[in-house]
Amino acid sequence: DNKKMRTENHLRHVESMATMPSGACNISHLNAVILGDALATEENDLIFPSHDFSSQAHVPSTDKYLEMYKRSIEDPAGFWSDIASQFHWRQKWGDQVYFENLDVSKGPIKIEWFKGGITNISYNCLDRNVEAGLGNNVALYWEGNEPGFDATLTYTQLLHSVCQLANYLKDIGVGKGDAVVVYLPMLMELPITMLACARIAAVHSVVFAGFSAESLAQRIIDCKPKVVITCNAVKRGSKVINLKDIVDAALVESAQSGFSVEACLTYENQSAMTRENTKWKEGRDIWWQDVIPKYPTNCAVEWVDAEDPLFLLYTSGSTGKPKGVLHTTGGYMVYTATTFKYAFDYKPSDVYWCTADCGWITGHSYVTYGPLLNGASVIIYEGAPNYPNPGRCWDIVDKYKVTIFYTAPTLVRSLMRDGDEYVTRYTRKSLRVLGSVGEPINPSAWRWFFNIVGESRCPISDTWWQTETGGFMITPLPGAWPQKPGSATFPFFGVQPVIVDEKGVEIEGECSGYLCVKSSWPGAFRTLYGDHERYETTYFKPFTGYYFSGDGCSRDKDGYHWLTGRVDDVINVSGHRIGTAEVESALVSHPQCAEAAVVGVEHEVKGQGIYAFVTLVQGVPYSEELRKSLMLTVRNQIGAFAAPDKIHWAPGLPKTRSGKIMRRILRKIASRQLDELGDTSTLSDPNVVDQLIALADC
Ligand code: WTA
Repeated sequence: DNKKMRTENHLRHVESMATMPSGACNISHLNAVILGDALATEENDLIFPSHDFSSQAHVPSTDKYLEMYKRSIEDPAGFWSDIASQFHWRQKWGDQVYFENLDVSKGPIKIEWFKGGITNISYNCLDRNVEAGLGNNVALYWEGNEPGFDATLTYTQLLHSVCQLANYLKDIGVGKGDAVVVYLPMLMELPITMLACARIAAVHSVVFAGFSAESLAQRIIDCKPKVVITCNAVKRGSKVINLKDIVDAALVESAQSGFSVEACLTYENQSAMTRENTKWKEGRDIWWQDVIPKYPTNCAVEWVDAEDPLFLLYTSGSTGKPKGVLHTTGGYMVYTATTFKYAFDYKPSDVYWCTADCGWITGHSYVTYGPLLNGASVIIYEGAPNYPNPGRCWDIVDKYKVTIFYTAPTLVRSLMRDGDEYVTRYTRKSLRVLGSVGEPINPSAWRWFFNIVGESRCPISDTWWQTETGGFMITPLPGAWPQKPGSATFPFFGVQPVIVDEKGVEIEGECSGYLCVKSSWPGAFRTLYGDHERYETTYFKPFTGYYFSGDGCSRDKDGYHWLTGRVDDVINVSGHRIGTAEVESALVSHPQCAEAAVVGVEHEVKGQGIYAFVTLVQGVPYSEELRKSLMLTVRNQIGAFAAPDKIHWAPGLPKTRSGKIMRRILRKIASRQLDELGDTSTLSDPNVVDQLIALADC
């Protein structure tokens, strides 16, 4: 009953705040423009969908949204089973559509959706679409780093490639529940591998191919895969990156810690490196091209329970050890497909490009599974978005007539800095919907994206979600309501976001606080691999009864949500989540580093930059060389994307008398807000602060 009451409260809340494009709405005081009519300027707070756009959209009005949203909250079982029924199930789920306990005081946290339902997500992405007549449609368009290199796979061809790899995996003894670690760049072989694992119920664990050997080794040791799948090298921009060397080093390291990987399947990426130049270990390494094409192009599906694991994806938390986020099959399938369809207003005529790498959750849910479940044509781009020049993205948009373009604010800001002429050189006339993910998009980047890239014709779906949530949580539905530049707007169906204060009390109306979610949704992660206790402690203990996102959020008087960034010790650099503790532990592993404290600072392009305070071992002098060597240590231990933007020499760190580092003060020093240092009298040595300030620009 308590739950019912909370649900009712929530609905009232959303309804009272939902903004109506017409009629008696509480937004009449705002200046508005209509999609396609005018540019979004600073005076215009609201951008309405045009009649044309709305009338053809899956959700054409706020009223329709409210009706669907209401049902999804009042009757989650009915709402989601209706949607789930559109997929192929070998056997339907049991009477109980879902089970949830999100309250630690009532027992272990547990979330289940469609339990007892038997299905396979690879079947639903491929066989189901081929049977529906989409076999000759393009599933994947691959665009190489070098302009002019490209390839395509139809749904039938993709199915065949997936089956060949699946047969190989079965042949070497990979079976249901076995882990497969994947370390591949954006080649078609990456989604092929994910789908092949899913086909035989193996659990893929994709590691972003920008992680270092040590990070890869750490993940291999944690999930103990039967096989690692990689390629010899990749070209990104003008650089060749030798991935096989990184994998070799990781495999040596993992063997030294007692776990040996028996097989390393290696794709020969000829445009980057030939076989002859690739280091090889006989008996362990196998060339993909030598074995996979010999296998049959059909492979029976391993049917699984909806709650059987689909994949593991490691993500950063506030301690040094990455967390293995575990997603299961049925709920994730239904959720990614549905969010994709509605948030991008996907239609069969669309051509879709998401610039994210499959090594991150965005590439899992919205390069591979969500779009393919919808039978979409997806672009996979191997290279750097500004190679050979900052016009490349728009070149690709025109080449494939992309209609939906989904990217990260960091790329928007960097292209914005390169100048409009790179954009306007191309027509971009196919574009219909734009999307943003990874961090809050600042209003000026939003307006540039909207005005210049989309020529004020395309709504922007600013999707807030996380590795843990599996799919979109707060997102515009582009035909349903007006947008505000920089706001992720309203919750997706079935999602009940709440803002709580530090005591965990829900705050209503215009407010800001910690963003939590009450009740489960089908795409939610089910545990942290091998550490259910950490799952409960990190996400469900901070505020009893809720899932805690780790993000701050404010809600304005019209009910729009504005994400304000992480409130824990995680920084978001170019949309990549990096734990400060991970960078600190890499720094202190350097023999000349005594102590390190890392904070995030505002960065013009990356959103946040990494700012590291480093205390050296007694007697070691500061030097440029040492600075470089510290940077290199972080690159080697985590990856280049985690290298600090600034190393600030610190004779000492500001600590309380009990020895706790006062990060609040470090953040102020890092952002040079020196008049906002606040009370420093509780520090064990207040002089430390003056010393730090004196060394700020050394
Ligand atoms: C941030 C990426 C504001 C947020 C999908 C979250 C965002 C973290 C947005 C998850 C957005 C993601 N607006 N912030 N539209 N999207 N974030 O797990 O801090 O790599 O907690 O998932 O990115 O990062 P993750």
